Amino acid sequence: MRVIAVANQKGGCGKTTTSINLAACLAHLGKQTLLVDLDPQGHSTCGLGVQLEKGALTLYDLLGFREALRPSVMPILKQVNSCLYLLPSDGVLNALEEDLANSPDRDKRLKRELDILERENPDFEYVILDCPPNLGVLTFNALEAADDLIIPIEPSFFSLHGLAKISETIQHLQIFRETRLNVYALLTLFDSDTTFGQEIYEEVLAHFQDQLLRTVIHNAIVLKEASSAGQSIVEYAPESSAFRDYFHLAVEYLKRDWQRRFPMNELGWKNILHRHYGPRSVLGGVLFQAINEKAEIVEIAGDFNQWIPEAMQKRPNGLWQKVIPIHPGKYRYKFIVDGEWQIDPYQPVQRQNEYGTVDSYLELV
Ligand SMILES: Nc1ncnc2c1ncn2[C@@H]1O[C@H](COP(=O)(O)OP(=O)(O)OP(=O)(O)O)[C@@H](O)[C@H]1O
Ligand SMILES: [Mg+2]
Repeated sequence: MRVIAVANQKGGCGKTTTSINLAACLAHLGKQTLLVDLDPQGHSTCGLGVQLEKGALTLYDLLGFREALRPSVMPILKQVNSCLYLLPSDGVLNALEEDLANSPDRDKRLKRELDILERENPDFEYVILDCPPNLGVLTFNALEAADDLIIPIEPSFFSLHGLAKISETIQHLQIFRETRLNVYALLTLFDSDTTFGQEIYEEVLAHFQDQLLRTVIHNAIVLKEASSAGQSIVEYAPESSAFRDYFHLAVEYLKRDWQRRFPMNELGWKNILHRHYGPRSVLGGVLFQAINEKAEIVEIAGDFNQWIPEAMQKRPNGLWQKVIPIHPGKYRYKFIVDGEWQIDPYQPVQRQNEYGTVDSYLELV
């Protein structure tokens, strides 16, 4: 289970909008996702159209009581759709700061509850924490429980001013953590048409470098409309560009998460691609494959066909294939893409040729 806090002490920078829509897009991608409303304003709760009946249990009941009195998590959750769940909140959560003032474990309560949830319900893959706009006990609970932190940044002078403060807080936190918190910055409410927007982008990029998510969330009124209607953008306007922004964010996050979990250098990725798309023995010969979505015709020529180009067969998604019946031996070959001779990018072995360039090379034993 991966826990992602969405936090920034600055108000109105898109924390709740990002939490709801990132959670909804992860769920849309089939990931079992839990959104935790850590804000007494209860915006994630009403933004997903969840109405709490009088006396309903909320996050407060989970964090505010001593162990013996605490309810278990599952009955408090509200199911939004087949993959999306919400842990709701309301104004009562305001009391937590005072209630926990003298508890030594006050910042670790959410982590403890999420650890229990993970043990009892291992199906949950992602948990998103929508934080309030301050650095109080709720945000510290989120940062203790989180593996990743997404900081939404709305392009304004004041947001940039606040970056130094967040960075300072994070650095301080990292010292006390067992594992490193992965920090990402996300530009929200972005207007790419203005030079101001571009300037801010450059500034945030310079500050966060690789930690800046390449997806940008543009200013889109439909996001406001969706939350007023109590729906995520996935439900409210799946055709909109705002949906595409949040969908790209979910995909980028998943990709980065994957790369972090399975770190591989360039060569590692090349090896995987080589195993998948490089030449390999199949029934009837050796299967050669090229990928080119735009090409009209892709051919193959080599020592095995006296360098007379033979057309490859076009498959869906830009894949071209040809099985050539060849015997054990050493072969040079090339692809010809719309008349242009190219090496096989998925075959790392090459040999110099007499024309001063290289051919792809295959040794079949
Ligand atoms: N990309 C966007 N385009 C247009 N409006 C947006 C966008 N993102 C957020 N908003 C709107 O801006 C306002 C603030 O957004 P949101 O509630 O997500 O911010 P927040 O950081 O959670 O605020 P708070 O600090 O109060 O919790 C809301 O009215 C929301 O609908
Ligand atoms: Mg909010």
